[in-house]
Amino acid sequence: MFDSITPAPPDAILGLTEAFKKDLNPRKVNLGVGVYKDAGGATPVLETVKEAERRLLSGEKTKSYLPIDGSPEYAAASQRLVFGDSHAIVTSGRAVTAHAPGGTGALRVAGDFVAQITPGATVWLSDPTWPNHPSVFQSAGLKVASYPYFDPAANAIDFERMLATLGTIPAGDVLLLHGCCHNPTGVDLSPAQWQAVAEVAAQRGVLPLLDFAYQGFADGLEEDAAGVRAVAAHCPEMFVASSYSKNFGLYNERVGALTLVARSPQAAEASLSHIKRCIRANYSNPPAHGGEIVRTILGDPELRRRWEGEVADMRQRINTMRHLFVETLNEKGVDRDFSFIARQRGMFSFSGLTPAQVKALRERHAVYIVGSGRISVAGMTEGNMDYLCAAIADVLKAG
Ligand code: LMR
Repeated sequence: MFDSITPAPPDAILGLTEAFKKDLNPRKVNLGVGVYKDAGGATPVLETVKEAERRLLSGEKTKSYLPIDGSPEYAAASQRLVFGDSHAIVTSGRAVTAHAPGGTGALRVAGDFVAQITPGATVWLSDPTWPNHPSVFQSAGLKVASYPYFDPAANAIDFERMLATLGTIPAGDVLLLHGCCHNPTGVDLSPAQWQAVAEVAAQRGVLPLLDFAYQGFADGLEEDAAGVRAVAAHCPEMFVASSYSKNFGLYNERVGALTLVARSPQAAEASLSHIKRCIRANYSNPPAHGGEIVRTILGDPELRRRWEGEVADMRQRINTMRHLFVETLNEKGVDRDFSFIARQRGMFSFSGLTPAQVKALRERHAVYIVGSGRISVAGMTEGNMDYLCAAIADVLKAG
């Protein structure tokens, strides 16, 4: 059965980490995967996470199964983080939330559910988008298509073309939007653009799916939810796929949530019953530990306050790295204008480096970035900046 199988290509992002680990160059730098690094180059466990784990360890009474959709407290905390404590969507019962294994798990559950209720639906993805998006939805049996998003020449959103394409999407199709910190470009919609996109989606009867993996990494936890909330204000039905990998640093705990908003509490509950069937057939019920950490932190005012400070520290540090990167490239004599990187948001920037330059960076300098030219700014540190910028200057010189 297996003799004739030829190897699949490595994953565009996680495959880089595999190659990076095997690289023997002591100066190697991994700016592939979106993982936060502190000044010492470590990806720390947040203090509030440690504290929550201490409490869980001493108070935990059972390892019995969670419900298929996770704990109700976790669901409520997730909804409040997305929409705000007293938002009508939360208080009215129009939203239901399932605890999912990471943002990816939430996207896949949404895909499975859509494939059941609207077989043949197309999921519309930004061009460019996270390379795993097409695979997640195609694996669920859905079609994918793309809408214009980024103009590389201007390093800005190609908004007119984006809106024109959104205006052609048939009712019942899914429109995937990045809630904030667009991955890979780092360029987000403005408030006015969110408004316009939400209006078009509502007019056309398109189902918005907000991939919300970086809440807190652009301007702040509340501020970053503005786009999601603008969509919610116009569209009576939507999904939000939350991830807590980045803002709680819980990457390997695989913790996220899928929130569905319906027109009525009855429709929301009926939808949840089908979502639970998708989950049961897929991974049965969610892993508890990461979700319990999130629930503990969000449910304790003092821990929550401290966690908000930790998120702010990560955000500010990434922004400091953005500026240091631009300055250091200048110092290395790079004459191309990279100042746009200091204006982008979240973990990623689209560098504009060509595939050949990306390859040269890896082969000559052991600097790993995604083939599209996406750089994880969150992987930059004071310690690797000089080497990194000298490497980029070198490959740019070679053309
Ligand atoms: C990324 O884009 O680097 C992250 O979302 C991690 C991943 O799973 O790809």
